[in-house]
Amino acid sequence: MYIFHTICYTWEKLCPTNFNYSPKMIGRNDLCWCGSNKKWKKCHFPKEAPVGIAEEYYKQYGIILKNPDQIAGIRRSCQLASQILDKTCKMAKEGVTTLELNDYAHKLHLEAGAVPAPLGYGSPPFPKSICTSINEVICHGIPNEVPLASGDIVNIDVTCILDGYFGDCSRMVEIGTVDLEKKRVVDVSYECLMRSIAILKPGLPLSSIGDTIQEYAEAHMCSVVTQYVGHGVGIRFHEPPQVFHNKNLSKIILAPGMTFTIEPMINAGRKEAVVDPTDHWVARTIDGKPSAQWEHTLLITETGHEILTTWKR
Ligand code: MF3
Ligand code: CO
Ligand code: CO
Repeated sequence: MYIFHTICYTWEKLCPTNFNYSPKMIGRNDLCWCGSNKKWKKCHFPKEAPVGIAEEYYKQYGIILKNPDQIAGIRRSCQLASQILDKTCKMAKEGVTTLELNDYAHKLHLEAGAVPAPLGYGSPPFPKSICTSINEVICHGIPNEVPLASGDIVNIDVTCILDGYFGDCSRMVEIGTVDLEKKRVVDVSYECLMRSIAILKPGLPLSSIGDTIQEYAEAHMCSVVTQYVGHGVGIRFHEPPQVFHNKNLSKIILAPGMTFTIEPMINAGRKEAVVDPTDHWVARTIDGKPSAQWEHTLLITETGHEILTTWKR
């Protein structure tokens, strides 16, 4: 059946108006073989290409469902990203600059035979190897020579390329004593991430992620950033689909082999982000109130999900 349909589809594509297998075979305008008295093309003619689900997802959404070899590669890249992230977070203390964190993380990439994906990424090219986003910075903070101070909250975001595969993850670090508003965004964003991961399984609408996150965040006096999203990841840095962290109307259904990030950016005040007009990267809250974010790379499996980035809070 599968092969028959595949052949029909290919042939029809090649010859769409006058499609016949051979003079002896049934034609599109002949009566259907089933006795319905309808033309074959209006009845049992195979209209839909019986493409596999991977082809369908790629054709409809641009989503690459990964095969076992690709999954193995992405898993290793995610493990490395998590290890680099853990070590870099341990180094984040009062008095240490984010540039020092960057240089340390950069060295860890090279020692592992990996490449830091952010360096030179995008336009204008991102200038550093990791992102470090402090306090009111929502995401894409650029490491610099300002030392971390007690009371800061900092997101460290590591994306590595290992053997051509991408792994992407981030965590928050609290420096010294942190006020209650900052503690709230740090804890709420973590809960948003973990609760949205807990529901993941094939058949679930992608939009359930945003539902879960927005409901939890708003119930805890926080807002959800909508100008930045999670994303497919693995073969490239940012692949389809966009993973919205707010309520949305995406019709995409989770399927085994999907690899994507969830990385909710949660604000203590208003949700709007303002991009720095000088560097075109650093995104800050419009009201200067704190923001926090945690990120995992996930795989949808036949039975549920796997967290590919292995870091634990
Ligand atoms: N790692 C970020 C993400 O989670 C993207 C950083 S892009 C960069 O998608 F260029 F700023 F590094
Ligand atoms: Co990401
Ligand atoms: Co990231």
